[in-house]
Amino acid sequence: MTSRTTAIDYVEDVSPGSGALPPRAWYASSDAKSLSLNGSWRLRVSPTIDAEDDSFAEPGFDAGGWPEVTVPGHWVLQGDGAFGLPIYTNHLYPFPVDPPHVPTENPTGDHLRVFDLPADWPTDGGAVIRFDGVESCARVWLNGTDIGEFKGSRLQHEFAVGHLLKPSGNVLAVRVHQWSAGSYLEDQDQWWLPGIFRDVTLLHRPAGSAADFFVHASYDHVTGEGTLLVDSDVDGRVTVPALDIDVATGEPVTVPVQAWTAETPKLYDGELVTEGERVPLRIGFRTVVLEDGLIKVNGKAVLFKGVNRHEWHPDKGRALDLETMREDVLLMKRHNVNAVRTSHYPPHPAFLDLCDEYGLWVIDECDLETHGFTEQAWRDNPVDDDRWTPALLDRAARMVERDKNHPSVVIWSLGNEAGTGRGLTAMAEWIHGRDASRLVHYEGDWNSRDTDMYSRMYASHAEVEQIGQELDGGTHKRRGLPFILCEYAHAMGNGPGGLADYQRLFETYERLQGAFVWEWIDHGITHPELGYAYGGDFGEELHDGNFVCDGLLFPDRTPSPGLLEFKKVVEPVGIEGWGSPQTEFGGGFAGTVRVTNKQDFADLSAFAFEWSYQVDGETVESGSLSVPALAPGESGEVKLPEPPADGSGGETQWTVRASLATDTAWAPKGHPVAWGQFAVSARQSPKVAATDGPVLGERVITLGPASFDARTGALRTIGGVAVNGLRLDVWRATTDNDEGAEWVTGTSFAELWRKYGLHRMRHRLDGVEIGDDALTVRTRVAPAAWEFGLATVYRWTSDGNRLKLTVSVGPEGEWTVPLPRLGVRFGLDASADRVRWFGGGPGEGYADTKSASQLGRWESTVDGLQTPYLRPQENGARADVRWAEIGGLRIEGDPEFSFSARRWTTEQLDAASHRTDLTPGDTVWVNLDHALHGIGTGSCGPGVLPQYALRAEPAEFSFVFSEIS
Ligand code: GAL
Repeated sequence: MTSRTTAIDYVEDVSPGSGALPPRAWYASSDAKSLSLNGSWRLRVSPTIDAEDDSFAEPGFDAGGWPEVTVPGHWVLQGDGAFGLPIYTNHLYPFPVDPPHVPTENPTGDHLRVFDLPADWPTDGGAVIRFDGVESCARVWLNGTDIGEFKGSRLQHEFAVGHLLKPSGNVLAVRVHQWSAGSYLEDQDQWWLPGIFRDVTLLHRPAGSAADFFVHASYDHVTGEGTLLVDSDVDGRVTVPALDIDVATGEPVTVPVQAWTAETPKLYDGELVTEGERVPLRIGFRTVVLEDGLIKVNGKAVLFKGVNRHEWHPDKGRALDLETMREDVLLMKRHNVNAVRTSHYPPHPAFLDLCDEYGLWVIDECDLETHGFTEQAWRDNPVDDDRWTPALLDRAARMVERDKNHPSVVIWSLGNEAGTGRGLTAMAEWIHGRDASRLVHYEGDWNSRDTDMYSRMYASHAEVEQIGQELDGGTHKRRGLPFILCEYAHAMGNGPGGLADYQRLFETYERLQGAFVWEWIDHGITHPELGYAYGGDFGEELHDGNFVCDGLLFPDRTPSPGLLEFKKVVEPVGIEGWGSPQTEFGGGFAGTVRVTNKQDFADLSAFAFEWSYQVDGETVESGSLSVPALAPGESGEVKLPEPPADGSGGETQWTVRASLATDTAWAPKGHPVAWGQFAVSARQSPKVAATDGPVLGERVITLGPASFDARTGALRTIGGVAVNGLRLDVWRATTDNDEGAEWVTGTSFAELWRKYGLHRMRHRLDGVEIGDDALTVRTRVAPAAWEFGLATVYRWTSDGNRLKLTVSVGPEGEWTVPLPRLGVRFGLDASADRVRWFGGGPGEGYADTKSASQLGRWESTVDGLQTPYLRPQENGARADVRWAEIGGLRIEGDPEFSFSARRWTTEQLDAASHRTDLTPGDTVWVNLDHALHGIGTGSCGPGVLPQYALRAEPAEFSFVFSEIS
C-alpha cells in the first residue's frame, strides 16, 4: 500500500484530484480491446469516511460477506434502504455550508470487483481504466496500488493501469464518498445519489494509438463544401470512403458534402487509422457562428424548440442504459423537439452519439452549480474564489475534450445557477480558446460578460417580447446578442400553460432563438407503497417535495399532456385557414389553407398531407392533399376540394394533417407531425321548448323526465338515472401552478383561494319556485367569514323528454381573486364508466393548454380520463365539449363546456399527496364547467396570462340532459 492509506484530505480538497490522465475524446475503438467492468460488485457502506481503513483494497481481502450491488448504479437505490436513502433538495445544500468542508456523516461506499483479463488481451501497449461517472468523489486502487482520486461526478476520469494488470485475479477497489468538496459544485436541483452510476471500462491502449483527436468538420453554405481536418496527437490517416477522402491527420481537405443539421443529420462514416489503432468516426459537417446578432448554423438562424434533460430512470436514477437513452431521443423526435440542453451536466456520452445520429441540437452543459450560495448572498461562492478555479477549469476541459467530436453539440454551457465570478470567466476563456467552432452559454450572468448569447430562465411573455423588440436595454455587449430562454414552461403537474403564447413570440422576433422547456422527465422514484416517491418520502430532514417532478414525461416515460401540447405548439409545419376567422383577413373559411414550412433547413418533401371533412365530429370523407415542397420559412396556399354535400345541418369542419411520408430512423411512415382544423358551418345550440311544467307531488316535484326534492329543489333523477348533489362548483384541487408563484407575485392563488374559502363555499337556499313552465331554485353560494358571494339561480325546463338546466351566476360583493372553476358538479352511480363525447380530445385541455386538443368524437372510461400527475391535482378536463355521454345520461352544453369525471371528490383529490391516496368510492363525480381558470406556470415562472384568467363576472350557461335509451 502507498503512504496515503489513512489520508482523507482529498475529500475536502478543492483540487479536482490526482493521478487521472488528461481528459480526451470518448470513443469506441474498432480494434483495441476493451473489457466492461460493469456488473455485480461487492459493496460495504460506512457512515463516515474513516469508519473503515482501506485494507479492503489489498489483494486477498475477503469481501465474500459483503452484499452485492449492480454497477452502474446508486447504492441508495439498491438494497431496499439498507445502504441509505436518496435525498432531494432543489438548491439548499443538505449539509452545513462551510466550503470546502463536508459533514463527518459522509456515507462512504467501498466497492470491490475482481476480474480476469480475457485470454486474448494483448500483452503489448498500455491500458486505462475509465470511469464515466461516479458521485461525488472516488479513490481508486488496482491490485493494492493507490492510483489516484477524483471529483467531478458526471465527467470521465481515466487512469493508466497497464503496468498493474495481471492475467487473472485483478482487484479493483473504489472508495466512493457521498460528500466532498466537489459537492459544493454539484448543487443541481435533483436527487443526491451517490455511487458508481456510469460505466467502468478497461481499455487496451495499443502502442502507436492516439490518445486524443479532434475532428473539425465545417460547412460552407455558399459553396456547399465541407472542410475536414482531424488533429491527432499521434499521426495517422483519415479516410471517408463516401467522400473519397484519404488524408493525413493535421491536413485539411475540402469537398462537396451534405451538411449536418438537426433536421437533416447526415453523418459520414470515416476512420482514423494510426499505427496502433483504427477509430471509427461519424462526421457531421456544420458551422456554428454568431453573426448579425444571431446564432447561425450553416448560414441560417436556428430556432430551438428544446427541452432540458436530466438523466432519469425511476428505478435506476441517473444510471441509464442505452435503450433508455434511445427512448428519450426517439420520444423527443416524435414530439417535434429539435434541441436539448443537457441540464445540468454532460450526459452519458452515448446520448450524444444518439443526438448526432437522429438529429438534435445540443447545449452541452458543464457539471457545475453552486445555487445554495444564494442563501448567503453568494458569499464564498466557489466560482468567485481563485482557489477553486483549477477545479472549474478541469470540469470545463473534461466536458469539452470528451464531447468535442459531436456535431450535435453546437453550444457549450458553463453550468447552471452558479452566480457570477472570475472562475466562470476563466472557463469561458479556456473554452473559447480550445474550441472556436462553437458558442458559449451561461444563464447566470445577465450581462453576458463571458457568453455568446443572452440567456434567461422563466422570463414572462411580456419581458420576452420586450427582449424580442430589443427594448430591454442591458450592456452594450448584450444588446448585440441573440436571446434564448434556457428554461421556461415549468412542466410541474398540470401544465405548462401559455406555451402557444411564447411560441408566437419566438416566431415573430428574430432575436428570440427559442427556448427549452423545464424539464424533460419527472424524477419520481418507484416506491412500493406510494407508487412514485418524491422529496420527503425518504424522511429527509430538508427537502423540496414534488418540485423534482416537473417533467413532460411521467417517470415511466409516458408522455404527459404537456408534451402533447408542446408537440402541437412547435410543429414543423404551420397549417392555418386562409380567409378563415383565424387569420387577419377575417371572413368565413374559404376552402384554402395556408401551409408554412417552419423548419430551418429542410423542405416539406418529408411530409405527406391529408384532408378530411367532419360532420358533427365524424369524418365523412378524406383524401390526400398535394402540397408543394416549400422551402424553409416559405408559405403557400393550398386549395381544398369541394366540401362533401351534407344536408344534415350539423357542425362541419376540415382537418388537415401532415405526417411522415416515409419511414425515418425515429418514426414510421404515417407518424403525425402537424395538423390544423377549420370550422365551416357552426354548431346549432340545443333547443328545448319549455312545453312541460313542474308538478308538485308528495315531497317530490316532477318535470318532464326528472324528479326533484320538493323542499330543496335538488335534482334526484333523470328518467331511471339517479343524480346526486347537483350544485354550483367553483373549487378545483389546486395544481402545482396554482400553488406556486410566490417569487413572482409574493403569494399564490391557491393560498388566496383557501384564505377566501373557495374550497368551503356554503350554499344557502333562498327559494324553490314552481312556475308554469319552469322550476326555479334560488341560492347564494358564499364562504364563511366573507361578504362576497355568488347569487346562483338554477332554472329547470323540459319538453317532456329532455331536461334543461340554465345556471345564472351573479357575483356579489368585492371579488379580488379569479375563480378556480365555474360550473356544476353532481354524482352518478359508480357503474358509470364508459364516456363518449364530441369536443376537444383525446386528452385534457385548459384555457391556456389546449392547442393539442382536437375537435372530434372521443371515447374513454372514467379511469382513462384521469391524468396521473404524481402529486394529485386538478386534471383531465376535456375542453370545448358539445355533448358527452356517461352513466346513462347524455349532456349537451350551451355553450360548449369542459367535462371531467372521477371516482373521488375534488376534496379527496385535493387532499391526496400521492396517487395511491386516491381510492374509488361509490360515486362517479362529474363536473360540467362553463369555464376553468387557466394553468400558467406559476410553480416556477409567470402565472396565468390575463386572457386565460376566470374572473368572477355575471355568467349564464345551460346543459340539456336526456336519458340514453
Ligand atoms: C431553475 C433551475 C432548474 C430547476 C428549475 C425549477 O432555476 O435551473 O435546475 O431547479 O429552476 O424546477
